[in-house]
Amino acid sequence: MKPLILINCKTYAEVSGEKGIRFARKIATVRSSKYEIAVAPPLLLLREVAQKVHIPVFAQHVDSDEYGPHTGQILPAEVKEAGARGVILNHSERKLGFERLVESVKLCKKKGLEVVICASSVAEVKKVAKLKPEYIAYEPAALIGGDVSVVSAKPGVIGDVVKIVKRVSAQTRVLCGAGVHTREDLQTAIRLGAFGVLLAHAIVKARDPAMVLRKMMR
Ligand code: G3P
Repeated sequence: MKPLILINCKTYAEVSGEKGIRFARKIATVRSSKYEIAVAPPLLLLREVAQKVHIPVFAQHVDSDEYGPHTGQILPAEVKEAGARGVILNHSERKLGFERLVESVKLCKKKGLEVVICASSVAEVKKVAKLKPEYIAYEPAALIGGDVSVVSAKPGVIGDVVKIVKRVSAQTRVLCGAGVHTREDLQTAIRLGAFGVLLAHAIVKARDPAMVLRKMMR
């Protein structure tokens, strides 16, 4: 498998509505023999992006409910049916209680969704690794949205995270996130043993997202 670049669109205005479809289409024009590129569009665009754009799509969040009287909940079964390949859970901007996270992971696996669990500390990495997700995204909350990347600020910690995850759940891959914005960030993350990166503002808020992504992958 090729290292993963997962672009979290969050709820930025630059990718709301039709702009989000155009963004996903632009990103889908970026081809790479070295990396796999995936997007997590705004939730209301998930189905349209999955159906109109040939790119793996992840849901930014799901709840741990099955069909039934759960007003306003986002169901794993629905995002799967809408075309999602996977889900992001426990993002710093959408944290879950541990019990709820355990239930969500179980249900997502049952529905055949790949799971990315975000963790903002080494202690949290140790805890969520026991749930054996496909991916753990190590994202220190304080660096999210900034221009100092986790890769340049905490290279040693990334090495530790990779070791811990390998020990607790060998099949789980580590993604680095928070402030990732350069080619060096991406290459260093891979060199430190990560399987890829989770990023947002550097691509989503760029004037030319496809160009920035191409530069990052050179
Ligand atoms: O989920 C990715 C995210 O939290 C990182 O955001 O803007 O620092 O790349 P950003």
